[in-house]
Amino acid sequence: MQITLHDKVFEPYIKEGAIQNRITTLAEQLSDDYKGRLPVFISMLNGAFWFTADLLKSYTGTCEISFVKFKSYHGLQSSGEVAQHIGLDVDLNGRDIIIVEDIIDTGKTLHVFLELIEKQRPASVKIVTLLFKPSAVKYPIKPDYLGFEIPNDFIVGYGLDYNGLGRNLNDIYVIKPE
Ligand code: IMP
Ligand code: MG
Repeated sequence: MQITLHDKVFEPYIKEGAIQNRITTLAEQLSDDYKGRLPVFISMLNGAFWFTADLLKSYTGTCEISFVKFKSYHGLQSSGEVAQHIGLDVDLNGRDIIIVEDIIDTGKTLHVFLELIEKQRPASVKIVTLLFKPSAVKYPIKPDYLGFEIPNDFIVGYGLDYNGLGRNLNDIYVIKPE
């Protein structure tokens, strides 16, 4: 069923079941890869709140979790400017970092954030993202763990919003061409 948020119409795109199956697989891979280590998951708010929760419910190892908040999107477009709203509260020196993102679009947010955390000299940094738009990327950012590769279309749901709306949808929806 299609839905309307503000002035745009969206159609079903990735169903809850498919999202949850993929996340379970990602969590298993991470649990294997980080066995015996103590990684710090850093979740990128707001969009990744739901993905982070579901991913870590299926992660079987011991870990720490922290949250940061950056903003770059206005409406349907990446604004090109990245502002930090909530900062880091863990010392990353010598730590294994796993950044948890909802979606990599231009890659600018992660590019800015990676420069910031590299200064703290972590032992390793990996990126897990639920969604990736390879044709939109403008910065040298590649996910190490990826849920779904998607075309350069605007989507909402499962944490992602259109001007504040749609984050609470269980499924992912794609914008309907006008
Ligand atoms: P980037 O800095 O251009 O990679 O954009 C990253 C952020 O923009 C993501 O973490 C999302 O919060 C937001 N974003 C990118 N694409 C979409 C989309 O299709 N729908 C909703 N938000 C998006
Ligand atoms: Mg985000």
